[in-house]
Amino acid sequence: MMKKHNKNPLCSKASPEEMAVDLKPFVDFQDEGLSLETLNKMIEKCLIPHLMRYDQPGFQSMFNAFPEEGAEFGAKIALSYNQGVTNWQVSPGGVMLEELCCKALCQLFGFSPNADATFMASGTYSNQEALYLALHKQAEKEGFNLAEKGMKGFKDPSRLTVLTSCDAHFSIKHAVRMLGLGEESLRFLAVDDNRRIDVNLMKETIKEIQDSKDVFCVFITAGTTSTGSVDSALPIAKICQEIGAWLHVDGAYGFAYSLVPKWKHLFSGIELADSLCWNPHKQLGIPIPNSLLFVRQWEYFGRMTLYSDYFNRREDPEPSPGLKSPPSTRPFSALALVTSLRHQGMIKVIQRLRAPLIAIKILYDNLRNDSDIELCHQPDTGILCFRIIPDSFPEKELDKLQRYIYDKIMTERERTISLTKLDDKAVLRVVAISPAVTSEALMETISNVRALAREYKLEK
Ligand SMILES: Cc1ncc(COP(=O)(O)O)c(C=O)c1O
Repeated sequence: MMKKHNKNPLCSKASPEEMAVDLKPFVDFQDEGLSLETLNKMIEKCLIPHLMRYDQPGFQSMFNAFPEEGAEFGAKIALSYNQGVTNWQVSPGGVMLEELCCKALCQLFGFSPNADATFMASGTYSNQEALYLALHKQAEKEGFNLAEKGMKGFKDPSRLTVLTSCDAHFSIKHAVRMLGLGEESLRFLAVDDNRRIDVNLMKETIKEIQDSKDVFCVFITAGTTSTGSVDSALPIAKICQEIGAWLHVDGAYGFAYSLVPKWKHLFSGIELADSLCWNPHKQLGIPIPNSLLFVRQWEYFGRMTLYSDYFNRREDPEPSPGLKSPPSTRPFSALALVTSLRHQGMIKVIQRLRAPLIAIKILYDNLRNDSDIELCHQPDTGILCFRIIPDSFPEKELDKLQRYIYDKIMTERERTISLTKLDDKAVLRVVAISPAVTSEALMETISNVRALAREYKLEK
């Protein structure tokens, strides 16, 4: 029998205006201070009800997770010492732990002994730095140093092209904007039925543009945001080698699943990538922000390095993680990740990762023969996109129906789902991130979707 679903909202139903009223006292900066006890009461009454409960089975929309117990423990210690992990002089223990953690992660994921990593503030910044490194390599091919000359060093910057999937995360757009390449430098590749980059079409695109464009970077995704699909790294890595392009893998969401034995094959060839981004602040429940950028050769980070006279000095022999990315004040991100992995042990970590994958797979198997649900892809990871199509429902109103259902569910706040577009059609999307999201909880969402579809009134 199906379990009764949780009737408590995941978050208050307050409107933005009502919420602003509740929260206003927090920003009423007065000459006199408040006791921590008073602040605590204010927080419990006015703030906590408005925060989203990522730990509930009904939270099925985004990649957020409550902190894992071991991660929370480490994060509290990092917070109480507020270490700035830039160089040896400012936090010897923080620096050494970060260096050891990066090396150990490279080994855990099967990267080459020459690989290295750095903690970053978010996947968006990891992706941006990767693209900058790729551009550096292209500049070196053209015989100049990008750090010195900038974009004007390129003979014809309008030739510079990044290939990526039409389903890539929008952080790639931020990256090309911030680097001065502009969105026109992006060439979006078509995807196959499973929403992975269509490798044959990719080859054709390269042939088509090779005389007019320089493809200096191919940006693939290991777990796309919309469908969780994993682009095929192995054949794409071979193409990148042939054309001399940098291969970046955006594994912000999906890369963690390469640790799960039955899913590992999806990631084959990823070790050939020049760089890879991964966000432990997603399904692993490491406190936000926690992202990593990996590079195949540690020397690549040299392209980021800026020495200064007061610290991060060239002659200092000790490690300086701050030489691998721009911020000079960096959080102690490694601690929460290592306390989480050590506290759980890898067996539990893998079980935690596997659970939502299985839940989504069961959901897919349950729905695949249902005529009122159109499944948009076969799930590679923990996401399923679908459209509800009631019997003889007019095609032209299908987008409105999906939107209606989404709005209703999000207003009720007993569960959350998401709405996105695939090939310009509105689709509903469920995500399983925490082990709390079981196949039963997902099936309850489907029942809810069906009930709402029945109550929808067609336009006259
Ligand atoms: C595939 C992918 N890449 C990049 C990002 C951006 O990461 P962040 O939100 O940490 O900036 C996301 C965020 O969801 C993502 O799903």
